[in-house]
Amino acid sequence: MFVRSLRLIALLGCACVAAALFISVRSGAEATPAERGLHNLTHRAYGAPIMTDALFARLSSVWEPEWKAKVDANDPASARRVAFERYGFSEAAWDNRGGPMQFLVTPQGGWVQTCMLCHGGRVPGTGESRIGMPNTELDMQTLYDDITRMTGFKGPFPLLFSMSRGRTNAFIFSLELLRRRNEDLSRRNDPAPMGDYRDMDLDPIPWWHLKKKTALYVDGTVRGDFARPIMQFTMGEPDGAKIRSWESDFRDVLAYLKTIEAPKYPFPVDRRLADEGRSVFNRTCAECHGTYGAQGKYPNRVVPVDVVGTDSLRLTGLPREFRAYFQKTWFAANDSHTVEDPPGYVAPPLDGVWASAPYFHNGSVPTVYGVLTAEARPKYFRRASDIKAYDEKNLGLKYEALSAPAPTDAPGEARRRVIDTTLPGLGNGGHHFGFKLSERQKRQVIEYLKTL
Ligand code: HEC
Ligand code: HEC
Repeated sequence: MFVRSLRLIALLGCACVAAALFISVRSGAEATPAERGLHNLTHRAYGAPIMTDALFARLSSVWEPEWKAKVDANDPASARRVAFERYGFSEAAWDNRGGPMQFLVTPQGGWVQTCMLCHGGRVPGTGESRIGMPNTELDMQTLYDDITRMTGFKGPFPLLFSMSRGRTNAFIFSLELLRRRNEDLSRRNDPAPMGDYRDMDLDPIPWWHLKKKTALYVDGTVRGDFARPIMQFTMGEPDGAKIRSWESDFRDVLAYLKTIEAPKYPFPVDRRLADEGRSVFNRTCAECHGTYGAQGKYPNRVVPVDVVGTDSLRLTGLPREFRAYFQKTWFAANDSHTVEDPPGYVAPPLDGVWASAPYFHNGSVPTVYGVLTAEARPKYFRRASDIKAYDEKNLGLKYEALSAPAPTDAPGEARRRVIDTTLPGLGNGGHHFGFKLSERQKRQVIEYLKTL
């Protein structure tokens, strides 16, 4: 997508095991808009391949010795499994010619990035692959570094893909790609001025929230019609007219995104405790996060950053010029409105919150108990590598708290596994709203959240 001109390497044949068909995807005249949207996301390529089956099969030649040692030479499926683990890929639940859900594999064996690079992943606790689940396992920087090491390819301009695992510098790609386009998305040679901006790692937002939202993104900056704004990540495609021609496809994608439901909590719930938790929640949390159930109301509240107190780089690191330029382009020209100077962060719906750990827009807190308790927020942590490991008591990821960041001479892949909340953009402070609850009330609220 971003590396558009990577030369395709001759296809040696796919050594991959075809994924089982779990979901049926309907297309064509009889399908509903949402069904067509799902088909588009899973079967249509929006951009050029960044690698091939053959290149993927050979990437292990640039791995560190510890990673090479994980591959069992007697098991043909082993190298693929280890590669999925290294990059944070997950099995596609449809026939994707052996590719992971993060890429669409073309009949010629080319790998085209999909929206599910960041918006599809495995649900913690169950390991199920799901569209719309934030890919909190992705290591995009390691993927691109390995491809560069294999092919010598350097992108059209330098980009930092991610500083920590499970997060990406997504808004800065968008900024860098957009400034090289005219308002009609045709390419321009002199990048538009964008003022000062900072690299920042962001946790993707679960797609199952979208149906409740009146504004896109954690700062609620884009309002009105969402169909064109959600196409920003097709900008790896050089031809602006081609991007524009995909609008109706993305109207269907939007219809599909609005049908996605949160995954249900798969472990036992103490119903009495949860009922008690509902009233604590409705008194303490609902004014921002809304109420749930048949009469539920979601207020779409943007909370000023000095009130919520979470890391402010997401606001201060993206310049007003970027939002103003976005508003002038084709992406916003239809019926979208961009707030140029958003004051804070949207209090998200908490449906399926058990599954969207780690928490806050930067994924800086691994459990909901930590969201409610300052002392339970680790400064440095490494998530358990077993996807089925889940912390039912504290609601969130199992992790190892560390006393220091990874050593600077460790390989990038190992460094990015340690989340260092002292880094710019990854701060884990703020959101003091639950701190004063008693231990018992926190347990009640956590039990209630399991039912949403
Ligand atoms: C490189 C990672 C990446 C890719 C690829 C990507 N996104 Fe995102 N997306 C993000 C991140 C990170 C956010 C949250 C940004 C923020 O902080 O507001 C996001 C936010 C969104 C939201 C906002 C949800 C909400 O509730 O506000 C939508 C919708 C969305 N993306 C759709 C898409 C679509 C459609 C595609 C494919 C064309 C796509 N994204 C590709 C990383 C990505
Ligand atoms: C004054 C408004 C406000 C109140 C009251 C409030 N929150 Fe929040 N909450 C927010 C905002 C804003 C965010 C997003 C912060 C960010 O991403 O940086 C948030 C984020 C969260 C998250 C992380 C969600 C995610 O997926 O990352 C959880 C969990 C949460 N709140 C739970 C609660 C609970 C439980 C209560 C009640 C004890 C509560 N909040 C009270 C505004 C509020």
